[in-house]
Amino acid sequence: MNTKGIIILGAGGHAKVVIEAIEASGDNAAYCIGSCGTSTTLLNVPILPDESHLDRLRAEGYQRAFIAIGASSVRERLGNLVVGKGFTLVTVIHPMAWVSPSAQLGNGVVIMAGAMINACAVIGDLAIINTGATVDHDCTIGRAAHIAPQCGIAGSVTVGSGSMLGVGTKVIPGITIGKNATIGAGSVVVRNIPEGALAMGVPARITVRSTS
Ligand SMILES: CC(C)(COP(=O)(O)OP(=O)(O)OC[C@H]1O[C@@H](n2cnc3c(N)ncnc32)[C@H](O)[C@@H]1OP(=O)(O)O)[C@@H](O)C(=O)NCCC(=O)NCCS
Repeated sequence: MNTKGIIILGAGGHAKVVIEAIEASGDNAAYCIGSCGTSTTLLNVPILPDESHLDRLRAEGYQRAFIAIGASSVRERLGNLVVGKGFTLVTVIHPMAWVSPSAQLGNGVVIMAGAMINACAVIGDLAIINTGATVDHDCTIGRAAHIAPQCGIAGSVTVGSGSMLGVGTKVIPGITIGKNATIGAGSVVVRNIPEGALAMGVPARITVRSTS
């Protein structure tokens, strides 16, 4: 087993929570890559300023990476970058999360403290299941989607790749949310949401549709 620590891409608030989840799970973060003002460390993890360090780190035997950036499109880009350089995207599960044995998790996923992933849910690569969020049975959460803290997603919901469900969003059973959609904080989604839409409120109503 490779004992070198995980390279974290990102050095902001989300990266802090990821670092603590990694440490709580008994693993360790070796370096962060990103910028954090004038700080040279993030929670005692040294910060390297840009992606140009990746090739050297790979040559030194670092194999594992995690993309700790909230913006889905950036997570997607950096995920492809590090895989192209020969890193493996690790999945981080906080020890205080619950993941059903019948659930499937992709690569580069984080399941934060207090989150619950129930039976037969499928979580795509690079997805964030944030603090205290629940993803119930038979849900499919797409690649690089972000389920923010305290979301409650009922059974058999599909969330498309790149979508972001704001903090505290609730989704009733069987709903489909298209890819690259944004759901405002505190919304209750009771109708399907198309690709690229911005929806918010109780019940959630679409306010902007993508023109693409
Ligand atoms: C929905 C959201 C993306 C809209 O952002 P925005 O386009 O910058 O919108 P604005 O702040 O300019 O607000 C536009 C209008 O929508 C309303 N609005 C904004 N967010 C809302 C929400 N979640 N629910 C209901 N109404 C909302 C505002 O009150 C405002 O109404 P007004 O024009 O009558 O004053 C944002 O407010 C939001 O909820 N983001 C989620 C953030 C989050 O949870 N991130 C997870 C971090 S881990």
